[in-house]
Amino acid sequence: MILLAIESSCDETAAAVVRDGRHVLSSVIASQVKEHVIYGGVVPEIASRRHIEAVSGVVSQALMQAGLSSPQLDGIAVTYAPGLIGALLVGVNFAKGLSYATNLPLVPVHHLRAHTAANYIAYPELRPPFLCLIASGGHSHIAEVRDYTDFRVIGRTRDDAAGECLDKAARAMGLPYPGGLNLDKASAGGDPFSYRLPHPSVQGSEYDFSFSGLKTAVVNIIHNAKQKNEEINVKNLGASYIRAVTDCLAANTEKAARASGHKKIALAGGVSANSVLRRTMAEICEINGWELFMPPLPLCGDNAAMVGAQGYYELLAGNIAPLSQNARATADI
Ligand code: KG4
Ligand code: ZN
Repeated sequence: MILLAIESSCDETAAAVVRDGRHVLSSVIASQVKEHVIYGGVVPEIASRRHIEAVSGVVSQALMQAGLSSPQLDGIAVTYAPGLIGALLVGVNFAKGLSYATNLPLVPVHHLRAHTAANYIAYPELRPPFLCLIASGGHSHIAEVRDYTDFRVIGRTRDDAAGECLDKAARAMGLPYPGGLNLDKASAGGDPFSYRLPHPSVQGSEYDFSFSGLKTAVVNIIHNAKQKNEEINVKNLGASYIRAVTDCLAANTEKAARASGHKKIALAGGVSANSVLRRTMAEICEINGWELFMPPLPLCGDNAAMVGAQGYYELLAGNIAPLSQNARATADI
C-alpha cells in the first residue's frame, strides 16, 4: 500500500511517499528556520503563511521524486493534531482537497504517533508492544505502544515540554533558534557537573516530569551573573542543563520500563536527536539488557515520512476521516 503523507504542524512543510509503512520512496522537507531565526522562535502567523506558499510545490516534488502520480496511491495521510492550529490547517485542507479530487481515503495522523513511527522506518523488525519516550518541542510523554494504533501514556510533563525548556534556556544563554540543537552543539565537551541545577520530580507520580523549575533556575543563574557582571560559561552551563533535563527523561523512562516489564525501548521526537540523551539511554539499555531503538537524526525532527509510516497502520485499522475532518491544536495520543 502506498501513501502520500503531508506534515505541517509547526515550522516544516513536508511531504513524503511511503510504501507499506516502512519504505520511504521520497521525502521532501521545506524548513522555515531562516524565517524564524530573527525572532528567536517560531512565529505562528509566519509559519502558516509559509506553509501555504510551500505545500503545493513540496507535495508535487515528493510525488515526482517517487515517480508516482495519484492513481498509483492508496491514500493520503496528514497530521491533524497536535500543533500550531493555523499551520496544521494548511496541511489538513490541502490533503482534504486532494482526497476529494482523487477519491483517495484521507487518513488522519496524530503527530506524536507519527514521531513514534519514525522508528518503523529505521528498524524494519520493530513491532509493538514497546515503551517509547516521546520528547518534542511541545510534549514529553512516556507511552506504552501496545499496538500500532493503541497508545497508553504512563508519564507526561506537568508544565513545560523538554524541548521547550531547552529552547528557552538556549535563548537565555544567547544561542540562536533552533535552541535545542544549538545548545547541544555549544555544550559539547562542557563539564556537566560545573553548575548545580535541580533534578525535579513530581511527588506521587513517579513517571511524570516537571521542567519549569529547572528552566527558572537556569534563567536565575544567568540573571544573577549579569547583575554581578560575571561571565557565564555557556559550554559548562549548557552541559549541566542538558544533563539535568536528560537525567529526568532517562530516569523516568528506566523506572517505567522496569515497572511495566518492557524490554524494547524507543525514543522519538525532536529531543531524541540530543547526543547526551542518546548516550545515556544507550548506557541504561545496555546495563539492563534492553533493546534500544532511536530514529536516525534526519527522522527525529518533523518530517512527512514518519506520517506516512503511521498512516499505513492507521489505514489498516480503518481510520479514515470524513471530509469534515478538522485540525486540532491539542489531542490525546
Ligand atoms: O519534534 P520536533 O521537531 O517538533 C515538535 O513536534 O515540537 O521537536 C522540536 C524540539 C525543539 O524544542 C528542539 O529544540 C528540539 O526538538 N531539538 C533538540 C535537538 N534537536 C532538536 N533538543 C536537544 N538536542 C538536539 N540535538
Ligand atoms: Zn514534532
